[in-house]
Amino acid sequence: TKEKFELLEKKNQDAIKGGGKERNDAQHAKGKLTARERIGLLLDEGSFEETGKFVTHRSREFGLENEQYLGDGVVTGFGKVNGRLVYVFSQDFTVFGGSLSETHAEKICKVMDLAMKNGAPLIGLNDSGGARIQEGVVSLAGYADIFYKNTLASGLVPQISAIMGPCAGGAVYSPAITDFIMMVENTSYMFVTGPNVVKTVTHENVTAEELGGASAHSVKSGVTHFACANEIECLDYIKTLLSYIPQNCDEDAPAYAYTPGNEFRPSLNSIIPDNPNQPYDMRDVIGHIVDEESFFEVHKNFAENIVVGFARLAGRSIGIVGNQPSVLAGVLDINSSTKAARFVRFCDCFNIPLLVLEDVPGFLPGTQQEWNAIITNGAKLLYAFSEATVPRITVITRKAYGGAYDVMNSKHIGADLNYAWPTAEIAVMGAKGAAEIIFKREIATAKNPEAKLQEKIDEYTDKFANPYLAASRGYIDEVIMPEETRKKLISGFEMLKNKAVARPKKKHGNIPL
Ligand code: COA
Repeated sequence: TKEKFELLEKKNQDAIKGGGKERNDAQHAKGKLTARERIGLLLDEGSFEETGKFVTHRSREFGLENEQYLGDGVVTGFGKVNGRLVYVFSQDFTVFGGSLSETHAEKICKVMDLAMKNGAPLIGLNDSGGARIQEGVVSLAGYADIFYKNTLASGLVPQISAIMGPCAGGAVYSPAITDFIMMVENTSYMFVTGPNVVKTVTHENVTAEELGGASAHSVKSGVTHFACANEIECLDYIKTLLSYIPQNCDEDAPAYAYTPGNEFRPSLNSIIPDNPNQPYDMRDVIGHIVDEESFFEVHKNFAENIVVGFARLAGRSIGIVGNQPSVLAGVLDINSSTKAARFVRFCDCFNIPLLVLEDVPGFLPGTQQEWNAIITNGAKLLYAFSEATVPRITVITRKAYGGAYDVMNSKHIGADLNYAWPTAEIAVMGAKGAAEIIFKREIATAKNPEAKLQEKIDEYTDKFANPYLAASRGYIDEVIMPEETRKKLISGFEMLKNKAVARPKKKHGNIPL
């Protein structure tokens, strides 16, 4: 018996060595942690239970039969984050560059199946040279198994991908299907084809970091939702994100302790500038509405003309979508529409109520936008709001113009409560543009066209640049003082807590893609 126990001990020791000391040192020298160190930092102390620790590859090509590492380049299992169950896989770059073999993929699929059956989030820590080259199509089959399961798990349990090293070629499509991607600055990259292929095909000279590093994907492409300064920050972001979301689509996000107090926020009364064309930061509005320091912004550096993120209101998780008047006047364009649509759909999948803060002058004009399909892309946001069945409240702080008024969670597309501040202007367009069109002839033939234009602008402003026509129709439930907003929202979401919507049976909708 003693020898048998010792054999187990030896195997356990072997497994945790990964690719050996030299390769582990090389990993550290790159400023990266090892697969097991990452799991150690992510999970509550002592909570990790490993699966497939002794799995080895089955490859018999290129001498690989003589090179075996227990675990085969990925550490998998389950554990807890702040006391809540999660499933995790962490690729080990020290073993065959973290490359994905048949058995490596099987281990990942096994935790994915457990996550789906037991209803808890799946967290993938990616650090891999891609398909195990020596295995050929068998490895590609492994990827496809993972992609397929990512899709089946989508909307069932939250899936979070951290990219902590290379993630190239087909490998990118697993993270791409998951709900959130985090990348680490300078040590991670994602691309479908790397700098060498790019140079051959398009003659562009780019480094891996420029092509697919954290800043490229957080600012330019929007592929990643979070760019993290280092791995520790990345793992912290995962934990923070988890604190706002439920375990699965049948549960609610955890509620935090909250003691009711004075919910008036007089500072909100002075945020909107007197001049309607002057910008302000919607994050200031958010900061004064939600529980202190609770706003957790998602996709911060991408399409900054819209702000999305999670927060807590009276201890409960909400998702916020806000137009951002300080960037491009808060206009809706292709990127801001897709960014917000994806966020709205995540919140709807996982029972997170939605708050919309609206100050939108319309859609961005131009050939760039039209030729790149602002029609299709803008429709995504319209569709995402329309299909969402979670509690939905809108507050119009200032402009709500044109089709964008309809899109931004209007009552007409199913919002439950719509509030407007006295500074709201709910109209087809701004007063100047409107006056120039509808009084064109009158202005042109006037003795003093400029004075006439001003007169008509004033007339249009009086009639339409306010929330009262919309309120008279019931499109706005109440015009409220800014300082009352937090109080109104707390009672509104409380009232909507048991909201249930029955939709006609169908296979699935066909969101414009
Ligand atoms: N399959 C099998 N082994 C791989 C591998 C793969 N896809 N990618 C890397 N490795 C191995 C290397 O052979 C090396 O093994 P060693 O430790 O025994 O020497 C180890 O992983 C580390 O790779 P190395 O190239 O030394 O690391 P690096 O940090 O310099 O470069 C990559 C990392 C990912 C850029 C580079 O390894 C690479 O280009 N890999 C291939 C990527 C690819 O084309 N994948 C297939 C398509 S999806």
